[in-house]
Amino acid sequence: MSKIYAAGILGIGCYVPEKILTNHDLEKMVDTSNEWIIERTGIKTRHIAAPEQATSDLATIAAQRALQSANVKAEDLDLIIVATASPDMAFPSTACLVQENIKATKAAAFDLSAGCSGFVYSLTVASQMIVSGLYKNILIIGAEALSKIMNWKDRNTCILFGDGAGAAVIGRVEDGYGTLGFNLGADGSGGHTLCQPAGGSRIPASLETVEKDMHYIHMSGNEVFKFAIKVMGEAANAALQAANISANEVDLFVPHQANIRIINSAAKRLGLSMDKVVVNLEKYGNTSAASIPIALCEALEQGRIKKGDNVALVGFGAGLTWAACVLKWSME
Ligand code: ACO
Repeated sequence: MSKIYAAGILGIGCYVPEKILTNHDLEKMVDTSNEWIIERTGIKTRHIAAPEQATSDLATIAAQRALQSANVKAEDLDLIIVATASPDMAFPSTACLVQENIKATKAAAFDLSAGCSGFVYSLTVASQMIVSGLYKNILIIGAEALSKIMNWKDRNTCILFGDGAGAAVIGRVEDGYGTLGFNLGADGSGGHTLCQPAGGSRIPASLETVEKDMHYIHMSGNEVFKFAIKVMGEAANAALQAANISANEVDLFVPHQANIRIINSAAKRLGLSMDKVVVNLEKYGNTSAASIPIALCEALEQGRIKKGDNVALVGFGAGLTWAACVLKWSME
């Protein structure tokens, strides 16, 4: 299909639940310390969804804020994509639940499963549909209530993650602006290093799976760490090359917020000074698919992005997957 339109972000919104869980709170729950968590991850606090809040509730608030920022009505949406690893349920999709909540009656809707890379995967998919002329307004959301599938007795995982949602409306922008280059990838051989083992068709839910904690997130942190260090720089470089932009032309780098050591390593590899890098993981922890849109949303609110800036987004996550996108910022 030949390119007809340029695609970019028309508006963005985010939401995190009220409740804050500090490292000191975690010290009372598992054998860990505030010092260890800060030194090894950079995280100080994370937000936790209320008992009655599911992923679609967080996604809906972020979606409403993005629609307002874009000045687009819900009924003018053609498609909703929700990237999540913690859907309300296996089916219907969380995207269909959001569609009903915001009354986007003309929108198609589906979920996208790519772990923490999900938002950038969604941006890539949505972009192609705008570029081709198939759709005009697409709502993409990264949303997670990972606290609901967290083993609060496992110090290897429970200190890392937080809940939240970020959304963007993708549509037509001026020529030369918007999404310029992408790089998506996957390595299924590492799938076992980050997974929720039971509850699907391989290991259906049973009393035994519950007793063995198999419905929680299981992670080999060190293996994921090594993978992340490798792919973050590679994916960003490949997307920059596709966009025909060099790393020193990047005005803002928005990496997945998993671990400050992974972010530092990626910035170093790209030769970027830290003042060009968005870091907010100390407040939110790793919110998986929500981390990049929340970071982007905050950077915009803080006046760190202006029209014409080159913005690079890069993530990695369960799958294992990676995804990068370079945009020339089109919002005033
Ligand atoms: N508190 C105190 N000690 C701990 C904790 C904790 N919370 N967790 C682990 N330790 C201990 C370990 O048991 C180990 O002890 P040992 O040496 O006696 O065996 C020691 O600390 C070092 O453990 P490592 O796992 O080697 O520590 P590492 O420096 O690798 O940090 C971490 C662990 C933070 C998990 C890191 O590997 C990491 O960030 N990995 C990436 C994880 C990630 O990003 N996952 C999300 C992917 S995105 C998605 O799709 C959801």
